Amino acid sequence: MLRTLNTFAVDLMSIPSEEDLFWYVAQNVVGKLGFQDCVIYRANEAQTELTQAAAWGEKNPYARNIINPLIIPFGRGITGQVAQSRKPIIVDDLLGDANYIADTQPARSEICVPLTCSGRVAGVIDSEHPDIGAFGDAELEILSTVAAMMCAKLELLAETRRSQERYEELVTAHSQLTVETKSRKALEAKLFESRKMEVIGRLTGSFAHEFNNLLTVISGNVELMELEEQNVGADDMLQGVKLASKRGAQLIQDLLAFAQRTRLTPKDLALNDHVLAFSTSFEQSLSRPISLDLAEELWPVSVDPMALENVLLALVMNSIEAMPDGGSPKILTENIFHTLSESHRYPSELIPGRYVRLSVCDQGGGIADAHLAQIFDPFFTTKPVGQGTGMGLSMVLGVMRQSGGTIVAHSEQGEGATFELYFPAAPGAGFQRP
Ligand SMILES: Nc1ncnc2c1ncn2[C@@H]1O[C@H](COP(=O)(O)OP(=O)(O)O)[C@@H](O)[C@H]1O
Ligand SMILES: [Mg+2]
Repeated sequence: MLRTLNTFAVDLMSIPSEEDLFWYVAQNVVGKLGFQDCVIYRANEAQTELTQAAAWGEKNPYARNIINPLIIPFGRGITGQVAQSRKPIIVDDLLGDANYIADTQPARSEICVPLTCSGRVAGVIDSEHPDIGAFGDAELEILSTVAAMMCAKLELLAETRRSQERYEELVTAHSQLTVETKSRKALEAKLFESRKMEVIGRLTGSFAHEFNNLLTVISGNVELMELEEQNVGADDMLQGVKLASKRGAQLIQDLLAFAQRTRLTPKDLALNDHVLAFSTSFEQSLSRPISLDLAEELWPVSVDPMALENVLLALVMNSIEAMPDGGSPKILTENIFHTLSESHRYPSELIPGRYVRLSVCDQGGGIADAHLAQIFDPFFTTKPVGQGTGMGLSMVLGVMRQSGGTIVAHSEQGEGATFELYFPAAPGAGFQRP
């Protein structure tokens, strides 16, 4: 008997389904333990009825196949009572038991034990015998042990099924996510495309407008000069033509710089020297002081000197215009060692490495949050008509990017503004960690 139970314990592991378990137990366990027959019933989800699931012995001459499986409501007959009370029953003489449901084969005694798993009745194991009093404590113990082992396996099968279901849910969710990601990407691409077209449209429109104004000045003055017989005021008109042509040329220059299509001739230079020369000439011509804070032993940078001067002029002019009541812009220089671990401190578009940072600060009105994202757009200006072209910062950004660096703005309205230029240090320049 022990050997049969042992074999059962080992075989249990490889039994793949409830159905197989029921049949295995009926035929290979109970059948080999000295019982004459065995029927295993399965309880339904609602816990209201039992259905014959597997059988062994004379009641099942058709191997693994039950024709017309018997269905017994909970509470009815001996098996029904066991299912309802969850307690085993042994009947010594069926003829004297009012609960006996007569089967095809005549029987005199019966034993029935419940299969109780996680507080539910999974079914019952039932066995009958043609003799009176065939079942005692020994049979009860055997069947209870078999029932306990079955229940352990049933729980394992249920858990396996649940995790299989969870896995399938995950697979479905994942494929849904893939589909959603795909359609979101398509939507983003569409959005990007329409935003691109909108920007190009705005840029073309602004440029056409600006350029048209200049051409109107030029052609108007030329026509007037043709009409004038004695060429009275021709000088003024000529000046007008020259000025408009110059502004037109400047506009084209700025646009090319923004598009990073300027012909730049970079030179390794000491930034501090150029800042000093610039501020001296600026102070002379505009009589507005610039305060300087220049780091010693600044690394050399590689940049086009003419473009650098345009950049400084654009930024310092913006600062001056932001402080109409006076105040001096400040220019700072310093060495920056940009490592990966500190990348959050620097503009995300910069790869780690050595940079020289030049900052232009002022105590003007600052930049509104809503404008910060737009100030580098071509033709974006908050200045009155005739005062700003909105091309200064676009030109600066283009020059900086074309020189391997970039520019960022920090500002809060009413708190002044700071523009930081990052120049890559010239390769091979003597370098010490700052
Ligand atoms: N130092 C500054 N302080 C406040 N606002 C600034 C400053 N620099 C630039 N701006 C804002 O950025 C806009 C764009 O500047 P810019 O490209 O130089 O064009 P413009 O000076 O012709 O307006 C300015 O109109 C202004 O609103
Ligand atoms: Mg400007």
